[in-house]
Amino acid sequence: MSTRRKFLFSALGACLVQLSGETPSKLLIRSARPEDFEMTLEGFSSWLTPVESFFTRTHSYTPTIDMAQWGLRIDGLVDTPLTLKLDDLHKFPRAELVSVMQCAGNGRSFFQPGVAGMQWERGGVGNARWSGIRLADVLKKAGVKSAGNQMMMDGADEPPGTMPDFVRSLPIKKALHPDTLLAFQMNGEPLTASHGFPLRLVVPGWAGDSWVKWLTHIEVLDHEYDGFFMKTAYRHPIHPVPPGTPVDLSQTTPVTQINPESVIASPLHGSRVTMDRTTIRGAAWSGESPVTRVDVSTDSGRSWKAAALGGQATQYGWRLWQLAWTPKERGSAVIMARATDRAGQTQPLVQDWNASGYLWNVVQQVRVEVGDTVAAPPSGAELNIPEFPDAVKASCLPCHGADMVAGQHLSRPQWEKEVDKMIRWGSSVKPGERPALIDFLVSHFGPR
Ligand code: HEC
Repeated sequence: MSTRRKFLFSALGACLVQLSGETPSKLLIRSARPEDFEMTLEGFSSWLTPVESFFTRTHSYTPTIDMAQWGLRIDGLVDTPLTLKLDDLHKFPRAELVSVMQCAGNGRSFFQPGVAGMQWERGGVGNARWSGIRLADVLKKAGVKSAGNQMMMDGADEPPGTMPDFVRSLPIKKALHPDTLLAFQMNGEPLTASHGFPLRLVVPGWAGDSWVKWLTHIEVLDHEYDGFFMKTAYRHPIHPVPPGTPVDLSQTTPVTQINPESVIASPLHGSRVTMDRTTIRGAAWSGESPVTRVDVSTDSGRSWKAAALGGQATQYGWRLWQLAWTPKERGSAVIMARATDRAGQTQPLVQDWNASGYLWNVVQQVRVEVGDTVAAPPSGAELNIPEFPDAVKASCLPCHGADMVAGQHLSRPQWEKEVDKMIRWGSSVKPGERPALIDFLVSHFGPR
């Protein structure tokens, strides 16, 4: 960890990192290595999210790219396989758009019962300007054969141990959509290493798992790619299931579009406001259909008022919104905001549970106290990471830190499943050590 980073602690425990540089910005560290950093609620006040505040999701480690070696290979069911250097890609017509990018697991920490994975609150999302070229132009140059109906995408990242490589596929229809880009730039600057330098996919309206970073290889296929991150991870139940029930993979379908969602940036949950006028504000977005309205309630959902939309109106970017509120009485009030998109989709009050914690978009509830003075919410507890026994350190901390483990709140069966997955990925847990390891995990990181 760079010594130039300063650590603070957030209300819900994760570390806050203050990145060095001109723009003061904060990210919550969910996992320091691999890099999983969350945007704070402050981020929902800017129309474009500065790169320094933009969340980062990384399955394995951020690769160092040698540009002398780097090239994008396009093969499979194409007439002419191609290997293109960055200069070759720059010769295609430019394309640019603003789009939200959201992790499929954003909001995962709100699912009850809890599920394994990055414990995102609301900030596994951001809104940026992406510039590059159209993927369709490159695919047309290679010539997609008529049998090609999926496109495999792989990046330069390499998994530790025996973890499966992060490889995804995209239906060819979405790949050929004029808004699907191969981007070199984010907010007018070359991509940073954490965001996929030199080239990443931009798949507007779809969850971040399709936005493959450090792209090196595209293969046109006649079937969905047959790997862990398509066939096991990033799948959603076709039919609702009772909370806590595992779902047979045959009853699931890949995560594609993101859902309509709005987040209240201010006031903060647990804060105190006065009887004077308060501005309630935040950001709202949806998948392929733009947000057309945001309704706000200040009385626990009994009545709703349309908020004023701000920021620019684009197909895939988020809108900022605000509503002035003058409380009528002292006491406790619950503020809610609900986004609706052009297709008429809106946010639910209760969400169907899914075992991987994907696509959370329940209407947020922010409780404030109306009084005579203003006060910020009380700061929460720090994430207490207990000392790990040596055997657990040896089995569990070679690839990532204790933060990856300590953020979870899992039941015994869920920890057993998680440990088995890590053993498959290369953890050296000896059979005799397993019971004590599971006991340690359940006793410290059990259900909330
Ligand atoms: C061979 C390397 C390796 C070892 C050893 C390892 N892990 Fe992991 N683990 C990973 C990687 C890589 C990730 C991130 C996966 C991702 O983001 O998709 C991860 C993620 C996790 C997560 C987050 C949930 C998930 O499944 O993504 C938990 C919890 C976890 N590990 C627990 C453990 C425990 C407990 C042990 C010891 C039994 C362990 N890990 C040992 C590589 C390892």
